Amino acid sequence: MKYEIVVVGALDTNCYLVYCEETRACAVVDPGADPEKIIATIADLELKPVLVLNTHGHVDHIGANSDIIQKYGVPLAMHAADTDMLQVSDYIELSLLLGARNSPPPDRLLVDGDEIVIGRTSLRVIHMPGHTPGSVGFVHGGLLFSGDTLFCGGVGRTDLPGGSWKDLERSIRERILTLPGETLVLPGHGPWTTVEQERLSNPVLT
Ligand SMILES: [Fe+2]
Repeated sequence: MKYEIVVVGALDTNCYLVYCEETRACAVVDPGADPEKIIATIADLELKPVLVLNTHGHVDHIGANSDIIQKYGVPLAMHAADTDMLQVSDYIELSLLLGARNSPPPDRLLVDGDEIVIGRTSLRVIHMPGHTPGSVGFVHGGLLFSGDTLFCGGVGRTDLPGGSWKDLERSIRERILTLPGETLVLPGHGPWTTVEQERLSNPVLT
């Protein structure tokens, strides 16, 4: 499995193209904005999108779902608890800033432990509520796509609707910090980190 990062939109969301090297099958994780930039990177790498995945329903992560889905005719998968966030008119100022469009409803509802097949490789779903009720991470080998749950030196905000500090802290401690220390954490914004680095030095957790 390989991945490419495309930084999109005014909030610098990390959109990840997660792909199988042999088949070029690709999951588009969090196409939040700038669909033309995502599509150009897919073409450059000669990838074949097979689905769109959302780590959660916030508009800066779902704003270009519809463009990618229409372009490639692929299904959308996310957790059921965030499906009420897909109408961007509910966040009008941010949506205008991002050029976000309403997302179609998901074709597949993810639950904890699901396997998502991408060519000859796969991602496993971890449900980690807190930043939103339907926040999920995607794990493969030593990689964790962590969405807005855990960042390098920080954690996701919990003051937005559906957020819960208690849930977030439990998700991080029980679902992320229990992964092997060398696991690379690839967050929804900002630089990568590792489980060990956050366990030892994240100011919110130590
Ligand atoms: Fe978010």
